[in-house]
Amino acid sequence: MIAQPLHPARRMVVDTDTASDDAVALLLAAAAADTTIEAVTVVAGNVPVDRGVANALATLELAGAGDVPVHPGCDRPLLRELTTAEHVHGADGMGGHAPPPAVRAPEREHAVDALIRLSHERPGGLTLVTLGPLTNVATALSRDPAMAKRYAAVYVMGGAADGVGNVSAVAEFNIWADPEAAAMVFASGLPLVMVGWDVSRRYAVMRPADQDRLAALGTARARFTHRINATLARFCATITKLEGYDLPDPVTMAIAIDPGLILRSEELGVTVDTSFTRMRGMTVVDRLGIEGIAPNVTVVWDVDEDRFKQQLMDACAADGGAAEAPGP
Ligand code: BDR
Ligand code: CA
Repeated sequence: MIAQPLHPARRMVVDTDTASDDAVALLLAAAAADTTIEAVTVVAGNVPVDRGVANALATLELAGAGDVPVHPGCDRPLLRELTTAEHVHGADGMGGHAPPPAVRAPEREHAVDALIRLSHERPGGLTLVTLGPLTNVATALSRDPAMAKRYAAVYVMGGAADGVGNVSAVAEFNIWADPEAAAMVFASGLPLVMVGWDVSRRYAVMRPADQDRLAALGTARARFTHRINATLARFCATITKLEGYDLPDPVTMAIAIDPGLILRSEELGVTVDTSFTRMRGMTVVDRLGIEGIAPNVTVVWDVDEDRFKQQLMDACAADGGAAEAPGP
């Protein structure tokens, strides 16, 4: 793999299992000055796919991006049973604060068809940002392997480069949920930039001081961001033991919008464990090249936390005045 310089995403497709932190990532994308969201494709993951579609539509409306097409995608992993994460994100995926349903309907075109079609329409001109299990992307690749050459960059929120998991001791949810899909994507030749849960845990935790800063903005988007992460905040306090709620999808999106956030990354060989053991979904990062796996992924290690949080605050400071979720 020859390391390519990373450019800010100008035109992006977002593949998401839209729940609370995915929604914040959509807010960031919608607020990014020089970035156009060409489409949102939805996959089952945090919540069933229909719930994710509803959350994506409502969030885009709140974000002033109510014209972005939303495509429903795969409703289950390739081989495994669907395991959702309402215990992490709330029954509605939005901490009990889902905004009023959007008036418009999703697209009729399936997410997999949309991913392939868009790559043909703008070969080399699109950045893909994946925020959920990789089922849609793997299915598209199985139909059209050459799609791997048509996306300029793919930012993947997934995996744990340091081997510390959030769904098992070693695995991160998005990869664990559909490890076969992840293995296909990692072996596909797509130009992957992996933002693992380790990055979120170290650089994207909304500590009490960050939450106060968000609240002080006093906008609908700031209140939305805080409220929809209420269930996640409890999960982080009790299970992942963080000092606040972490934002894995937003930090991935922030990097796609501004790769200058990356302070340290490495081109490495990364494979995915597809066993039916407790290692399921582990991203095995060959840090020393000891297995001789050709580098296939740019692994992000360190990011500029202040710059990420400033991007988040700037996005939330904008107030479109759209309807928001009820709540305190
Ligand atoms: C990832 O899993 C989901 O809970 C989040 O939305 C994020 O995409 C973090 O492991
Ligand atoms: Ca997600």
